[in-house]
Amino acid sequence: MKNYRIALLPGDGIGTEVLEAAWPVLQAVAELHDFELKGTWLPWSCEYYQAHGSMMPADGVEQLKTFDAIYLGAVGLPEQVPDHISLRELLLAIRQGLDLSVNARPHRLLAGVPGPLRSTKHFDILCIRENTEGEYSGAGGRVHQGGELEVAVETSIFTRAGVERVLRYGFEQARRRSGKLASVTKSNAQRHSMVFWDEMTDRVAAEYPDVKVTRYHVDAIAARMITAPETLDVIVASNLFGDILTDIGAAIQGGLGFAASANINPQRKVPGMFEPVHGSAPDIMGKGLANPLATLWAGALMLEHLGETAAADSLMSAIETITDTGAGTPDMGGTLSTGELARLVQAALGD
Ligand code: NAI
Ligand code: MG
Repeated sequence: MKNYRIALLPGDGIGTEVLEAAWPVLQAVAELHDFELKGTWLPWSCEYYQAHGSMMPADGVEQLKTFDAIYLGAVGLPEQVPDHISLRELLLAIRQGLDLSVNARPHRLLAGVPGPLRSTKHFDILCIRENTEGEYSGAGGRVHQGGELEVAVETSIFTRAGVERVLRYGFEQARRRSGKLASVTKSNAQRHSMVFWDEMTDRVAAEYPDVKVTRYHVDAIAARMITAPETLDVIVASNLFGDILTDIGAAIQGGLGFAASANINPQRKVPGMFEPVHGSAPDIMGKGLANPLATLWAGALMLEHLGETAAADSLMSAIETITDTGAGTPDMGGTLSTGELARLVQAALGD
């Protein structure tokens, strides 16, 4: 039987809860579709940091390369480990170390989920965020710390290779979807990197004459996502802009409990990493309140990326069979626990 080796990284807080709830559902889908998912649990987390002084082993990224995919919960326990350490040494280290240059986040309303907007006639956006450089490149430094002359510099780095490949992935997706692509910059204010981004957009657009490109400034598209989401389809943005826009997308789709994300290398040389967009939610951890749907949806993105499209579709349809009944966790206005909602989805598989 076909099988896939999956690295399971539950991380911290509700990351553990949602991954433990979602994993049996993924295995059940696999069984229905005649393949096997072999999971290896890796305890890399803030707890691991406290015991070992690092968020993962020195060869962590090398270990991950031996898997077919990585399925992640969430990372961060800010009371115990500063976020800039946990985020940078684990999440960003994996995204950059594996060169997972694309972060794709689908935003749409699942069946039966109203979302906060009065009108969402047609809301189905795929936001593609550059994932390895830009504003989160980590380049910069601080001098005269603590003194009157203190200076902090955080430099954005945009490379032709980095910008072109994320745009190209966006154009490919636009071709598969509605043929529309929105390129996001702030080129009126940032006259070096963002003008460069616009030029790269034109250059790649020339290879895709069938795709209609519209340029937006980030502030304008942020407003448009709320006032006219039906006019948008594929959005391509830099690391920081994509980070912010996808939180708006998540809010429109009903909240962070729904938003899923795929970190991928379009050349497929390394395993992709699939995760909910949300964090470890220390405010609700340990209570069974976390919504597992974002993690299940991320699981469907993982199956799709592995080429198991039928399994991915059947997982999405089981999720929507349940959301359509109005059942859900407290963030959805329901009363189910994390595990109960995941088990309902599992029971709806193959319906
Ligand atoms: P968060 O996403 O953990 O929580 C924000 C709010 O949304 C909280 O009120 C939380 O209860 C709620 N929420 C999040 N996921 C939910 C779910 N599945 N079901 C129901 N409610 C949910 O963001 P926050 O509080 O800013 O960060 C907490 C920690 O997570 C920090 O250490 C942060 O750095 C980390 N973080 C990690 C991410 C990752 O691993 N990819 C992403 C974002 C934050
Ligand atoms: Mg974010």
